Amino acid sequence: MIILKITKANREQINSIYQLEIENYSSPYNQNSLLNELFIEDSLFYCNIDLDNNVTGYIIARLILGECEIHRITVSKDYRRQGIAQNLLNCIYKICIDQTVHAVFLEVNENNRPAINFYKKNNFIQVGQRKKYYGDSDALILQKRISYVNDPIERIC
Ligand SMILES: CC(C)(COP(=O)(O)OP(=O)(O)OC[C@H]1O[C@@H](n2cnc3c(N)ncnc32)[C@H](O)[C@@H]1OP(=O)(O)O)[C@@H](O)C(=O)NCCC(=O)NCCS
Repeated sequence: MIILKITKANREQINSIYQLEIENYSSPYNQNSLLNELFIEDSLFYCNIDLDNNVTGYIIARLILGECEIHRITVSKDYRRQGIAQNLLNCIYKICIDQTVHAVFLEVNENNRPAINFYKKNNFIQVGQRKKYYGDSDALILQKRISYVNDPIERIC
């Protein structure tokens, strides 16, 4: 059974998150950057944990001038397709709504099909493109506008 339990990230989780960074990104955040993220006022840094408090996924976002930028959303390989990323994103939506943020932005590699499908399912639309941002491939800039009328978000964290 998959556990959807979200907590604010803490110092004890940084090593596990760093391992996930190495496994999933060609330019991983180092431990110091992750640690610093815990203390940045406008940073939203949340983990999904299992019953033994192991980190199964995490999200890092920033609130900047009334908008939200998602910098990372990562789920451990063994735990994918079970709704963890969706749960993490819902947590950020809830905070955005509470703070009347109107738009969420992110960058994704044009070849990252799982992530692009995930964002499409969440009604993100492409608003820009950075040529060769990831070496040979482009970065797509995606945006989701948050509606305060017709977009009920499950309040889960
Ligand atoms: C992208 C990622 C975060 C998705 O995490 P996840 O927990 O598996 O996603 P969820 O289970 O919440 O998926 C929600 C929906 O997204 C879409 N989706 C997710 N993974 C998919 C895949 N591999 N193929 C196609 N669609 C996918 C599906 O529509 C899915 O709904 P469904 O399972 O009911 O069909 C995960 O694959 C990951 O960590 N990738 C490596 C890191 C990364 O690339 N992060 C994004 C950087 S921009």
